[in-house]
Amino acid sequence: MRIVDAAIPLLAGLSTLVEAQNVDFGKVYSVKPQLNNLCPAINNKDITDSKGKVYTIKCSSDTNVGSFTNKAATNSYADCMTACDTTSGCVAFSYVGGDLGSGSGTCWMKNSAGSAIAAGKNYVAGFLKSSKTSSSSAKTSTSTKKVTSTSVKASTSTSTKKTSSTKVKRATATTCSNPNNILYSYVSNPDTPTQFLVDTTLAGLAAAQWYPPAGYSTSFTSQLAGLFAPNYLGYQQLSSYNTSACAAYCNARSDCNAFNIYIQRTPTFIPDNSCPNPSGAAQITCALYGSYVSSSQATNIGQYRKDFMVVIQGSNGYNLNPAPASISTFQGPNALDAVAYSSNIYLGQKYFSSYDVTQCSSLCNTYTANSKANAQSSKSSTYTPCNYFNVFNLTLNGQPQLMGCYLFSTSNAANYDTYKTATDSSSGTVYNLTNSYGYALYPQDKGLTSVTWTAAPTGKNATCSSLGNAGDSYVDYNGVTYTLGCGYDVQYAADIGNQTTPDFYSCFAICDSGAYPGCSGFAYLGNTCYFKNLAGTSRTPQLNNYNVDMAWLPSYAGFNAYTVPGTVSYTTSTTVWAGPGSTTITTINGLAGTVLVKTSGSVPAATTTTYVTVTADQGTATTIATQTIAPTKGFTGTVSIIYPTAVTTCGNKGAAVGFYSNPVPGYQGTSAYPAFVPEQLKTSTPTATATAVSYIGEYNDASNGATIYGKSQTNNQLSTIALNHVFYVFAGHGTGYYYINIPAADDVALFWIGPNALSGYTRANAQLIQSWSVPTVATLGFYLTANTYTPVRLWFANGGGVGGLRFTMLAPDGAQILQSTANSNSGSMNADVVMFPCDSTNGKAFPAFGKET
Ligand SMILES: *[C@@H]1O[C@H](CO)[C@@H](O)[C@H](O)[C@H]1NC(C)=O
Ligand SMILES: *[C@@H]1O[C@H](CO)[C@@H](O)[C@H](O)[C@H]1NC(C)=O
Ligand SMILES: *[C@@H]1O[C@H](CO)[C@@H](O)[C@H](O)[C@H]1NC(C)=O
Ligand SMILES: *[C@@H]1O[C@H](CO)[C@@H](O)[C@H](O)[C@H]1NC(C)=O
Ligand SMILES: *[C@@H]1O[C@H](CO)[C@@H](O)[C@H](O)[C@H]1NC(C)=O
Repeated sequence: MRIVDAAIPLLAGLSTLVEAQNVDFGKVYSVKPQLNNLCPAINNKDITDSKGKVYTIKCSSDTNVGSFTNKAATNSYADCMTACDTTSGCVAFSYVGGDLGSGSGTCWMKNSAGSAIAAGKNYVAGFLKSSKTSSSSAKTSTSTKKVTSTSVKASTSTSTKKTSSTKVKRATATTCSNPNNILYSYVSNPDTPTQFLVDTTLAGLAAAQWYPPAGYSTSFTSQLAGLFAPNYLGYQQLSSYNTSACAAYCNARSDCNAFNIYIQRTPTFIPDNSCPNPSGAAQITCALYGSYVSSSQATNIGQYRKDFMVVIQGSNGYNLNPAPASISTFQGPNALDAVAYSSNIYLGQKYFSSYDVTQCSSLCNTYTANSKANAQSSKSSTYTPCNYFNVFNLTLNGQPQLMGCYLFSTSNAANYDTYKTATDSSSGTVYNLTNSYGYALYPQDKGLTSVTWTAAPTGKNATCSSLGNAGDSYVDYNGVTYTLGCGYDVQYAADIGNQTTPDFYSCFAICDSGAYPGCSGFAYLGNTCYFKNLAGTSRTPQLNNYNVDMAWLPSYAGFNAYTVPGTVSYTTSTTVWAGPGSTTITTINGLAGTVLVKTSGSVPAATTTTYVTVTADQGTATTIATQTIAPTKGFTGTVSIIYPTAVTTCGNKGAAVGFYSNPVPGYQGTSAYPAFVPEQLKTSTPTATATAVSYIGEYNDASNGATIYGKSQTNNQLSTIALNHVFYVFAGHGTGYYYINIPAADDVALFWIGPNALSGYTRANAQLIQSWSVPTVATLGFYLTANTYTPVRLWFANGGGVGGLRFTMLAPDGAQILQSTANSNSGSMNADVVMFPCDSTNGKAFPAFGKET
């Protein structure tokens, strides 16, 4: 006989809500904070008005008496009290206005109190307390109570009379032989119909079940009669007064919508002539109905079976609820025994003035989204998700006031569905929590941000060099992979913005964030990140001495950027000149080329001055100088362009070449001659060495011997000759794309430019391969900054018989740096080719042949 406690710990008044993490429950909360002089705080209270009269107030209630007049209420239900005071004959009123008694409305005056009946929350009933005629009725606040109290008295008195009159007379000796199977079988003491009807143990069984089983609403309780109601679907006997067990029988039938559970005084033997009045016992019956049931149908008070009087106690009726809407992504609604709560998994609550379950599912989803966002911004790998919510009606006097919504982190919240009432902590009003349904997120949110966060490095730990070496991959805290370019910069590449940060590491997050759309890398100098869009660029990062560090996304080729084939577009213009014949000049600057066709013809006018341009690689300044010499005779002047050249004061002119014997002759027929792996000769002692070489190229016809770079070679030597060329190219013709071309190699040539040329070169990382077996277009553009030195290596090998190598290098303006003469051991080389820079800070010398790495 435990009546459920009213101790749900957190119906914190309708004004104070539990705040869940980061969800603005207050902002979306649509019910006004409750004032103490309004419903529900004033429910069942005696309120004294300004004229000293006392009214008993019933919230969400009307009276069952018609009004004889009405008056306007200006501000609240309280105006009706003073209106009633000044209206002759008025002993009660019904205020119909704003919710909870607040706001303007109408006062319906009553000249007899009648009793309160449940109504909407915009109703308030008031009963003048001093009025004797109304006081007793006014206390009977609900129809349920009224029926209960009156029928207890009525039934008790009527049946008591009958029982006592019959029972005393008949004390017959009996022979009883047909026992009834009574599952519950409690016996009242004394075993009389009268005692059965007033038995508090039995009454308590029914009263304890005032709260409906899951999925049902209580229609009536504690009636002393079963039902005479339509759509009767039969009954079951139960072993205990278990409304859930009865509901289970109803749930098993799709046509069942209500049930009646009651305790019947049942004869222990079937009464007959030899057993007219056996002893009785309590039997519990569960009767099912297809239609909703109400207390007015509870009229079956029992009957005689022979001399045995069947009477009924503890009759409760329950109606099936209409289930609330289902919500996609949530499983449910699942009817709960009551409202769930457990502090370990409870996340928050909110009340809504309209019954719309999606308000609660949205709150749950918002909670999860905010919780996840918080975790991400605080770099936490877990967050608390909302995986379950519970909706219910907050009910007063049978009238739903608000829709409650509780959020939970786990779906086992349904195991804690034991809270049947809630107390408003500010007014003390106790509400019934009805129509409780749970919804479980499907699939459940595991609450993982999918990232294992580590603290971002700071200070010295946040510099480029502490994160890795140039060329290393680095995964930043957003999980984005970059290539580090510590000590490097890509000059002239499109800067798309800059931002001051405390350290190099901080640039990653800003580039990742999308704050600079298109950001695919950055350079860091001083305290500034320079964000770059490197898409499509073939500019390669350059070592620098200015403490610039870089990082870029792998979508940009980085150190290999110059291997990105450049498509040069040409513009052709034709001009008349006074020279001896037509000539074509092709210039390439970056990815733009110009073809200037000069056609011989007449000099347009006698006074026109014509200049011819001459160029010379002989400058020592760092800029390209132009001298214009005005014509002194005739009409032709000279424009002289002087390009800076490498410093050659340290015996470093030309290229160096190591001679070797190809260890894998005869395999040159296989596509691209894969057997020739030049790194295998890194530590082989060369058979000869040439320095200050003034062209790059080789030719032998397999029958006449040849002199290669000044070294006379026999046919045998030539048939397996391998040549390892090394040099630096000085970018004397300005910043821009320099071009390599290897038109022919018999049998194979491999090329490296940049750091690998000095050390670390392999066949696999060669930037250009030309071969006899599979001749290809072998052209490469690479971007050089004016006046820098860049190391170059070219391996050549003959696999047998005739051998040959041709090699061309052009400056951005089309000037030839290197050119070999076809089918000969000769060619040209300008002053930009040196074996090593005189100042080693401009580039280290190549390791000696045979001691390479
Ligand atoms: C009531 O019946 C239900 C369903 O048959 C059962 O799960 C529950 O344990 C019963 N309760 C009691 C108190 O016997
Ligand atoms: C709870 O509210 C809903 C919507 O207003 C309604 O359908 C349902 O009947 C209410 N429950 C009770 C017990 O009044
Ligand atoms: C709660 O429900 C019971 C049974 O239906 C009823 O007697 C009682 O008045 C209700 N209380 C409120 C506050 O509605
Ligand atoms: C740098 O990293 C090391 C190793 O993780 C740590 O012990 C040290 O405190 C860090 N220093 C700073 C300035 O963050
Ligand atoms: C940094 O960006 C600002 C514009 O945001 C620009 O005015 C400034 O020139 C940039 N600084 C450098 C050094 O590029």
